[in-house]
Amino acid sequence: MNNKLLAANLCCLALLLAGPAMAEKSSVELGQKLFNDPTLGGSSNDKSCASCHPNGEGMEKAGAKSNLAKIINQCITGPLGGEKIDGRTVEMRSLKMYIESLAK
Ligand code: HEC
Repeated sequence: MNNKLLAANLCCLALLLAGPAMAEKSSVELGQKLFNDPTLGGSSNDKSCASCHPNGEGMEKAGAKSNLAKIINQCITGPLGGEKIDGRTVEMRSLKMYIESLAK
């Protein structure tokens, strides 16, 4: 490999590594936004999580559940008619953080 090619590859690698760090971070605020977003999970109906759980009411105990991501996905694929969200994504992490923040 010549030096120019090597430099170009190192540059790409640096961009790849920096990419995720520059992306949006998981947060309670983002989770709350997604909770109120009717397009969550690619949903095409007008329901958001908040349609049935206004302000997350009644979910004070849900944050402690070990299968929280699974329950969230059931509500996404069920009532929202959307697609499951991977548990490692910023979206799912943020939704969980928001629900965990409701614990009393
Ligand atoms: C059409 C109404 C509806 C929508 C929309 C809906 N849910 Fe649910 N959800 C329910 C019902 C019904 C239950 C089961 C009864 C309960 O625990 O309130 C439930 C349960 C849950 C629970 C478990 C609560 C507990 O204490 O065990 C979580 C967490 C949850 N939903 C999250 C969400 C999220 C996140 C969204 C948005 C993606 C959402 N829900 C959208 C109806 C809905």
